[in-house]
Amino acid sequence: MIRVAGGERLQGEVQISGAKNAALPAIIATLLTSEPVILHNVPHLADVDTALELIRALGKEVFWHGDALEIRGGEELRWEAPGELVQKMRASFLALGPLLARAKKARVPLPGGCALGPRPVDFHLYGLAKLGATIDFADGAVLARAGGLRGAQVYLDFPSVGATEQLLLAGALAEGETVVVNPAREPEVADLAALLCRMGAEVRWDTDRVTIRGQRALGGAEHTLIPDRIEAGTYLLAGAITRGKVRAKGVAPRHLASLLDRLALTGCEMEVGEDWVEVLGPSRPKPVDFRTWPYPGFPTDLQPPMVALLTLAEGRSTVTETVYAARFGHVEPLLQMGAKIQVSGSVQVVEGVERLRPATVEATDIRAGAALVLAALAAEGISQIRGEHHLRRGYENMPSKLQNLGARIWEEEG
Ligand code: EPU
Repeated sequence: MIRVAGGERLQGEVQISGAKNAALPAIIATLLTSEPVILHNVPHLADVDTALELIRALGKEVFWHGDALEIRGGEELRWEAPGELVQKMRASFLALGPLLARAKKARVPLPGGCALGPRPVDFHLYGLAKLGATIDFADGAVLARAGGLRGAQVYLDFPSVGATEQLLLAGALAEGETVVVNPAREPEVADLAALLCRMGAEVRWDTDRVTIRGQRALGGAEHTLIPDRIEAGTYLLAGAITRGKVRAKGVAPRHLASLLDRLALTGCEMEVGEDWVEVLGPSRPKPVDFRTWPYPGFPTDLQPPMVALLTLAEGRSTVTETVYAARFGHVEPLLQMGAKIQVSGSVQVVEGVERLRPATVEATDIRAGAALVLAALAAEGISQIRGEHHLRRGYENMPSKLQNLGARIWEEEG
């Protein structure tokens, strides 16, 4: 668990790591080739370890060099993904497309629901079927076969990050062009497309679609992952909630536009450089309304941390979650810390309070955990946050990065 002695104003600079959600599909993309792929700026995270365990189980070899990964081998891939790795991390399901493309068949367990509510994979399967795969279900797993994948046009009913990535991965080795209409445009999806281009695929982005021209084979490549905009946003919010001044370094400011817009409305002062953003928190935030939305809208992954800030606002904020059915794992523990939040359907009405109180609370997922850390940093006194493993899935060295900003935070055996 994590123990936080809250009430300190955070001050200083924090180096942002490579993006978790760019690293995971990039690692899985290496299944598309047996030539070496080198990835730079890879964060050391539990979810990255799970992705590496997955590709090793399927036949790849993996070497770490600092924060670079060298991935090679896998002339013959195994075609069955181990169930426990998919249960542990939903992104493992992305292995389906590459395995189908290379091994012509794949067995990947269904990921099931999670703390954010039901998370189906119907768009992934619909798209792969359009590319010519036969899909069956047996013992909680998807069994897919395809003699050879053929490019096709796939319309997504929602711009799903995972489904767009799945189709880019499968389309990279399909015959002809795969067109995803209404694709996700998250920077992490664009980063995967950039890696696939380095491996030899051809990708074209248009206003309403992304097109990938498949190749017979893909080659090795070297690629640097984009910075983690969600990690950056979390530290900027830590500055804001503690009335501190935090500079996030090594970021892509344009990826943070929606957050910075809403932060300005809360009264934060901001400075933006080429690869850094600095936030100076107000003495008390003003309330703001926002809704989560696919990129470039406000990211759902920053909804819980932003709500943590708004619990201290001078007035009422209305927050609408449109991406997930039930991303409210932070609400109950924040109530224990004295916040006033009412959930009705997809809407949270946050009635700002003057101060939060310390408490012992439980993190149920990565971003709810981040919200609780922020609340604990603001609440004067000692809070304990259980479920630290969730934070280790998504935040590299979070306690030491916060300590460097002046926070009093420790990891302890629970
Ligand atoms: N959806 C379907 N059917 C599908 C796929 C998605 O109904 O076949 C629904 C989901 O249930 C959800 C919505 O569409 O309600 C969005 O899901 P999406 O596929 O876009 O998300 P994802 O690929 O499963 C990635 C990130 C998440 C992030 C979302 C949204 C990775 C590894 N994960 O998930 O990150 O919240 O996009 O931006 O890239 C996190 O980092 O904490 C995290 C949960």
